[in-house]
Amino acid sequence: MSTAAASTPIAAPTTAPSRNEMEAFWMPFTANRQFKSRPRMLAKASGMHYWTPEGRQILDGVAGLWCVNAGHGRPEIAEAVANQLRQMDYAPPFQMGHPAAFELANRVVKLAPPGLDHVFFTNSGSESVDTALKIALAYHRVRGEATRTRLIGRERGYHGVGFGGISVGGISPNRKMWSASLIPGVDHLPHTHDPARNAFSRGEPAHGAHLAEELERLVALHDASTIAAVIIEPIAGSTGVLIPPKGYLKRVREICDRHGILLIFDEVITAFGRTGSAFAALEFGVTPDLITTAKGLTNGCIPMGAVIARKSVYEAFMQGPDNAIELFHGYTYSAHPTACAAGLATLDIYDREGLLTRARKLAPQWEEAAHSLRGVPHVIDVRNYGLILGLELESIPGKVGARAFDAYVKCFERGLLIRQTADIIALSPPLIVEPSQIDQMFTTLREVLSAAA
Ligand SMILES: Cc1ncc(COP(=O)(O)O)c(C=O)c1O
Repeated sequence: MSTAAASTPIAAPTTAPSRNEMEAFWMPFTANRQFKSRPRMLAKASGMHYWTPEGRQILDGVAGLWCVNAGHGRPEIAEAVANQLRQMDYAPPFQMGHPAAFELANRVVKLAPPGLDHVFFTNSGSESVDTALKIALAYHRVRGEATRTRLIGRERGYHGVGFGGISVGGISPNRKMWSASLIPGVDHLPHTHDPARNAFSRGEPAHGAHLAEELERLVALHDASTIAAVIIEPIAGSTGVLIPPKGYLKRVREICDRHGILLIFDEVITAFGRTGSAFAALEFGVTPDLITTAKGLTNGCIPMGAVIARKSVYEAFMQGPDNAIELFHGYTYSAHPTACAAGLATLDIYDREGLLTRARKLAPQWEEAAHSLRGVPHVIDVRNYGLILGLELESIPGKVGARAFDAYVKCFERGLLIRQTADIIALSPPLIVEPSQIDQMFTTLREVLSAAA
């Protein structure tokens, strides 16, 4: 696909900071000392590519961080943001409104699964998650079921880094430092990763729907009257790409319905086209009560998130005197005008270029290319869905993560940006990716993994 962005000329490389100049920045989710001794810098981006400060071109295999779905440097978004800044830089979102916020909410609702028709804006995935959890707890309370205070997440779940998100999340390094301060009354479903039975699955793995029944076990243990909500990622990304087993999400939905429990899908990475549909909920035919989003909503270029709620959830709050604030929650930057402008321009691009369903068209080539890596040394699993790859490597004994990190560094040296979690490599390219670029990604991966063997 040719985009205006792809042909944007790249100006002269910028200068990278020296070792000393790097010290002040405490980098997030980064091995700071290692990075600062061998930095990997990005200076420019356009279309499917980044450029390093020295001018080296890097093919973006991960849409930045699963967010730049329409490709980098889209001039339409830049113009919309610049115009908005000139027209009105900021508007308070409490007790005031501005047109773009309402327009964007309506546009998001049009894409969302039928019945989810109210949008609460945030500034990130983490904020979306904490917002959705708070809405779920408050929902039961305003309906007179204040005993429903328990939240259920899932092992290996990633729901951002707020206290709510790490409490329902299931990744131990993200939790252990704060284990005494996690929110109380949280339980976890088992994860669905079962390489012994599902390795090298194409699309949804065959085994594991029965794991949804663990929710019945938790209901039996705690009683439904104490449980507010279940939160899961339809496809878990950060924990190393876990695709839901066939029928699993439907069973979770049925059990939630049976017991009056709200179901939250965390679609921070799956929304806006990653699976081949606008939302994974649509792709898998399972409608939750709340959806959390961020990332692709603004093509990653202005921070923004959103929680999309069922009408019945919103309406439960619309009671009491007219002048009463119904939900004591919100952010200074909720529905920030520039983020709304970026969101509207992004959704226009998705619509004009058919990007929300493009992954479905490319998925067969993607799947073939992915599974051609079966047999490459140390590859113990390949899994895929839409434009998502999870490739699992056998760990070096006593050095979990070392093999995939080595591949990550070598891929970068060979001009490909991938993502690595422990010994799992993930790919999730911008949805504008061309077939030849898919080939390039998998060829580079193959060369790097084979050379390291
Ligand atoms: C499923 C999921 N939820 C929440 C988040 C947190 O989003 P953010 O980093 O924007 O806070 C992420 C980030 O990758 C995510 O993948």
